[in-house]
Amino acid sequence: MAALMAGEVDRMNALVTRFLEFARPSPLRRASADLHGVISGALDQVRRGLPPGQDSYRLETEFDPLLGKFNFDPELMERVFFNLALNGVQAMPGGGQLRIRTRLRPGFVDAEVSDSGGGIASENMESIFNPFFTTKPDGVGLGLAIVSKIVDDHRGKIAVASEVGRGTCFTVTLPVEGTTR
Ligand SMILES: Nc1ncnc2c1ncn2[C@@H]1O[C@H](COP(=O)(O)OP(=O)(O)O)[C@@H](O)[C@H]1O
Ligand SMILES: [Mg+2]
Repeated sequence: MAALMAGEVDRMNALVTRFLEFARPSPLRRASADLHGVISGALDQVRRGLPPGQDSYRLETEFDPLLGKFNFDPELMERVFFNLALNGVQAMPGGGQLRIRTRLRPGFVDAEVSDSGGGIASENMESIFNPFFTTKPDGVGLGLAIVSKIVDDHRGKIAVASEVGRGTCFTVTLPVEGTTR
């Protein structure tokens, strides 16, 4: 059964990869872009899409002023932060705090998206990036699979830390190539 499931997951992974390649036949469309502007755009998009009453969370952004423009695909990166922020908000149906923070270090930027929601059960931690894994009644389970694919394509990394009942923090680390200040 476990082998069957692993095979199915691989199959779905391949399917999603092909789906993404279908939606984006060319490689990354990198441009010199402002990550903070891209994140702000994603946050606006999340806010606009929320049903009334679900938009009562506090938003805190802490953008590192040392981060200048660098080369990445702004359209896909907006999708990354949209998916992460939406998950954060959905984890806090009664309100809470969504915090986005960026920090420049030599050659890389860390961008954290954290929420004060219900957290991720430890037994689910391994599965959350798998396509079609969802714990939501109306979830699709593609948000994080897409996030990890886009981050991979940028040669970045994603890490998650979560505590049940306290919240979750996703950290996206991207190489800052072709920085202009
Ligand atoms: N910020 C978060 N807080 C709690 N659980 C999360 C968070 N982000 C992701 N998850 C878990 O990971 C699962 C997969 O997320 P995702 O791929 O975006 O699919 P979906 O949002 O459609 O369920 C979610 O169903 C949820 O269980
Ligand atoms: Mg999601």
